[in-house]
Amino acid sequence: MAVTIKSKREIELMRESCRMLADVFAQLETAVKPGISTLEIDKLGDKLIRRHGCVPNFLHYEGYPASICVSVNDEVVHGIPRADRILQDGDIVSLDAGLIYKGYHSDMARTFGVGKLSDDASKLIEETRNAFFAGISKAKVGNHLFDISNAIDDYISQFGYGIVEDLVGHGIGTSLHEDPQVPNFRQKRRGIKLQAGMTLAIEPMINMGRGDVEWLDDDWTVVTEDGSLSAHYENTVLITDGEPEILTLI
Ligand code: MF3
Ligand code: CO
Repeated sequence: MAVTIKSKREIELMRESCRMLADVFAQLETAVKPGISTLEIDKLGDKLIRRHGCVPNFLHYEGYPASICVSVNDEVVHGIPRADRILQDGDIVSLDAGLIYKGYHSDMARTFGVGKLSDDASKLIEETRNAFFAGISKAKVGNHLFDISNAIDDYISQFGYGIVEDLVGHGIGTSLHEDPQVPNFRQKRRGIKLQAGMTLAIEPMINMGRGDVEWLDDDWTVVTEDGSLSAHYENTVLITDGEPEILTLI
């Protein structure tokens, strides 16, 4: 599939879709506390999305059974919400969600701390966020796609963390996943030229240990192979003729 360039009207719809998703996240963040189950987070997120008159785009995506991906500690992404998975003080939890507004998709993820975190866990979350900003600083017309990937890799290399290579960011628009793929690690080639009107989900997934991951028997939950903690930070981003616009910022 070709990379799509959004028209002015489409950009407005993407902006609105993303603005509502960011609002959902702002409310979800306040619910993340010791004692809440991952299923309760999913139910709340689903309700907040529908309250905006939108539809959760993850629900039933390739058979995924929930509206919000809730991934705890060594779970990297695509954790399946459960009534008996209760968040504890010191856990880290990654929430990943998206919605559809008038046919336009948004997608974002954040890792939140539950109660009081270790310094190591806080730092992992903070540097994963910083890796996104290192990447987006290259998301400009005149640059190439993999300038983003290389900047994320260069930034993370100073910490001894592992970058997840098996999952990548992506274009987004009238589908959740459009071309191009946006890797978070160094690439040998330059990739396509960035153009105004492209919308990309940039989403570093960073492990405290090695970057290798495996899939649990539920066929969804991705975990770190070495059991180390993992953090995720994702925004839907618009390439413009000037500075990139983060459409899902909270
Ligand atoms: N959030 C994932 C992404 O960023 C997509 C998850 S699809 C689901 O591309 F089915 F797992 F929800
Ligand atoms: Co995504």
